[in-house]
Amino acid sequence: MDNIILIGFMGCGKTTVGIKLSYRMRRSMLDTDKIIEKDEGRTISEIFDTDGEEYFRDLETKCLKKLIATENNHIISVGGGLPVREENQALLKELGTVIYLRARAETIYERLKDDKTRPLLQVDEPMQKIRTLMEKRSAAYEGAADVIVDVDGKDFDTVMNEIENAYRRHIV
Ligand code: S3P
Repeated sequence: MDNIILIGFMGCGKTTVGIKLSYRMRRSMLDTDKIIEKDEGRTISEIFDTDGEEYFRDLETKCLKKLIATENNHIISVGGGLPVREENQALLKELGTVIYLRARAETIYERLKDDKTRPLLQVDEPMQKIRTLMEKRSAAYEGAADVIVDVDGKDFDTVMNEIENAYRRHIV
């Protein structure tokens, strides 16, 4: 399939880069968190609060399967924890070219220190939590990715150019 999928830790820029890229490449943009919130009629925080993380992870897998069955030629950003499930890594590969936007923990912390919408970071020591989650997840991100783009210290245009070039190289 010919989707461009953006993966990476919360706050790495998947949504912002995805929207800008969708204008530039004239493709529509989809986001698994937004699809899940719309289908469920509640926010991610409400889903975590009421039904817990595993329930949310099941919704992510279902969402990926639905995208594979119905969508093509999009830019798709996915929730930061989605690539951790092995099953999802295979589904991502089926869905298109997977781009990992890699950021350092310090970059993520600066961007998300006042954010209230990520349930996993509503803890006393968010920096510590970011580091721990990153350590656990980086192998999954790298394994799921066709291409890795480092984003620290780069502006959006530079990141987009790198994604576009890598994508074109990957599909030939
Ligand atoms: C999560 C990342 C969030 C969202 C949920 C869980 C995670 O998406 O899916 O809060 O486990 O890293 P973003 O990466 O878009 O913030």
